[in-house]
Amino acid sequence: MHECPIENGPRRRGVLATVLMIGGLVAGYGTGLWNFLQYLVPLRRQPRTDLFVGTLAELPVGSSRTVVDPQGQKIAVTRTAGAAGDPASGFKALSSICPHLGCNVHWDGGRSQFICPCHNGVFDANGTAISGPPAAEGKNLKEFPVKVDARNGWVFVEVTVRGRYGV
Ligand code: FES
Repeated sequence: MHECPIENGPRRRGVLATVLMIGGLVAGYGTGLWNFLQYLVPLRRQPRTDLFVGTLAELPVGSSRTVVDPQGQKIAVTRTAGAAGDPASGFKALSSICPHLGCNVHWDGGRSQFICPCHNGVFDANGTAISGPPAAEGKNLKEFPVKVDARNGWVFVEVTVRGRYGV
């Protein structure tokens, strides 16, 4: 016995509509879930690059130099004595942007502290907030990794690359 195609038409359309609706829901919720998981655990590491700061000879203990990353963020690189035989351990590269409201901090070599002039925020040489609004909020200066090329004594700061230079 053959079924009448005219009678099965509405039933097939109903099944097809249900399948399409379920597919749409799975795709929609699946995409949302995927984006949420990527927000929690980023799969792609942001591209990074090394910014040249100077040579060890140009950066004596107690000195500070400012470099600018591709996003325009100023990074203060300071040098302390560090561990013997490990020149990289004496370097700290910290964002010059105050985590309170974004003013530029400056290095006070005499006090070995970073000072934010906007609301008298003070950070120690490690970028830890020790007084003012940043200390009250527990917000420290952002730190960047420092590398020293032992072959030629060149000092670099590792930064992320975004915007028109990358992702
Ligand atoms: S912006 Fe630096 S202390 Fe307020």
